[in-house]
Amino acid sequence: MTKLLVANWKMNKNGKECLEFIEAFKAKYSGKRVAWIAPQALFTKLVINSGIPSGLQNCSEHINGAFTGEISARTFKEMGGDFVILGHSERRQYFMETSKLLNAKVKTALKESLKVVYCVGETLPEREANQTLSIVGDQIHQGLNDMSEATSENLIVAYEPVWAIGTGKTASPAQAQEVHAFIRGELKKKFPTFGEKIQLLYGGSVKPDNVEELLGQKDIDGGLVGGASLKAQDFLALCGDK
Ligand code: 13P
Repeated sequence: MTKLLVANWKMNKNGKECLEFIEAFKAKYSGKRVAWIAPQALFTKLVINSGIPSGLQNCSEHINGAFTGEISARTFKEMGGDFVILGHSERRQYFMETSKLLNAKVKTALKESLKVVYCVGETLPEREANQTLSIVGDQIHQGLNDMSEATSENLIVAYEPVWAIGTGKTASPAQAQEVHAFIRGELKKKFPTFGEKIQLLYGGSVKPDNVEELLGQKDIDGGLVGGASLKAQDFLALCGDK
């Protein structure tokens, strides 16, 4: 399976910086690994225009109506958008998004023909209390409950241990692989016909100097990257283009 690298730019980069990145990235990108970018929502069109698959970092569970300030998956699809990241720990933590709400968002996005990168992951206290697998299992089962629209093409799952995000602390390849193998097993039970083929991304301080070892693990099919996706040089390195 070709590895997939998803850049999550969070609330970073102005328009000029987006365009500079795109130009530098496209000049050297070979396509050896698949690259997607989720910029701030207001700049998704710049990425769409570049031909690189473009994503939102969140969307509404509703399609349209009186929901001031929300972004519709349907509108984004109509604009040429490709995917949406849902359930990022920053959304769960700062915006109180529960797995139940995320389940509604995932369903809406899939119905509107967007691909979904659904994120799960435990906090440090949860890991220390030996709850990693039960927390991640609950996030999978609640967030991906009753998914008639899901396929191995449109659903991607990202494991991002919260303690490894933006901290420089990466899960060791063995720690990441253990959770990925668990997620793979849960997805196989949940989706017997295609669960095995769902792409699983690791996120949390993925950098050029640890990416190969992480992507070398059996159940790690790619990365969801914050900090190291902000520099074209570094993201190119993650994509295998030095
Ligand atoms: P960092 O790569 O900066 O640790 O962020 C990971 C992340 O949150 C990607 O969604």
